[in-house]
Amino acid sequence: DTPLRDLAAAKGKVIGTAVTGTRLTGTYGDLAGAQFGSLTPGNAMKWGTVEPARGTFDWTEADRVVAFAQAHGQQVRGHTLVWHSQNPSWLTTGSWTPAQLSGLLQNHISTEVGRYKGRIAAWDVVNEPFAEDGTYRSTLWSDALGPGYIANALTWAHAADPDAELYINDYNVEGVNAKSNALYDLVRSLKQQGVPIDGVGLQAHLVLGQVPPTLRQNIQRFADLGVDVAITELDVRMQLPADSAKLAGQAADFKSVVAACAAVTRCVGVTVWGFTDADSWVPDTFPGYGAATPYDENYRPKPAYQGIAQALGGD
Ligand code: G3I
Repeated sequence: DTPLRDLAAAKGKVIGTAVTGTRLTGTYGDLAGAQFGSLTPGNAMKWGTVEPARGTFDWTEADRVVAFAQAHGQQVRGHTLVWHSQNPSWLTTGSWTPAQLSGLLQNHISTEVGRYKGRIAAWDVVNEPFAEDGTYRSTLWSDALGPGYIANALTWAHAADPDAELYINDYNVEGVNAKSNALYDLVRSLKQQGVPIDGVGLQAHLVLGQVPPTLRQNIQRFADLGVDVAITELDVRMQLPADSAKLAGQAADFKSVVAACAAVTRCVGVTVWGFTDADSWVPDTFPGYGAATPYDENYRPKPAYQGIAQALGGD
């Protein structure tokens, strides 16, 4: 069978996966290298990972993912610079003035983006800035700095690597709804102000049978604003145990998401959030649910793998 990355490339798209850097050997490494044209470190580039103590950096796993990608001719999506979660404890528990927080954020972005300058295709600069109703989520950043932290973060990232594509990434923004409307309004406003925003990431952590019917329309409206779109964290969870009917439904869901991206020129590609059920966040977060990725726990391709291939013109 033609690898997914080659099928995608023939369509001008990129198929990627989130990876755990420490696992990139053996079968896991073989599949990650052979099947995918882009890697996203699932945790390795988050602030809490790279600067666990203030001024003490650990780039081990992030470097490993970037080196693996370079060795395999893959892009890297950097994930993520500004988030409310997985921050170091010194950052969240310390008492910082807004001016100090702004300085810490600028320094963090300059340091991390600068380290990988020229080696990251796209950065998820700001992750999950919105609440479900379309208001700004209350976070360390928005509470102290107001929503202007978003434009500043993008501007600082652009200064550190002018060639990287800069994204805002969120979940439950795949269809047209209050949250994606807010993201749309923000991107339009940033574009009008000349802030460097290149793309929006639609995470797509989906539930079996619940691909939003407005997915393609939503991708298209962002494209029409003049930004790229990426599906950044696709998985489709189901209640366990999996059976053949559920796996067939899941294949249809993967196929329809990838097809929606393939149908829009400015949708650059799809990243799955882990390619094997052995390496998925779902069972830990949603007890009783899982089997959310295209390969089973023993690295055998599931019907979902074929669904992706078919949407990319394979069989
Ligand atoms: O590293 C520790 C390890 O030392 C410890 O033994 C183990 C015990 O539980 O935990 C390990 O840390 C876990 C980490 O993943 C690495 O495996 C954390 O507990 C766990 O909370 C963390 O989960 C990550 C999650 O983000 C946190 O929100 C997932 O792996 C990661 O896939 C997930 O990814 C997020 C995206 O960044 C943003 N969008 C949503 C997506 C899913 O939550």
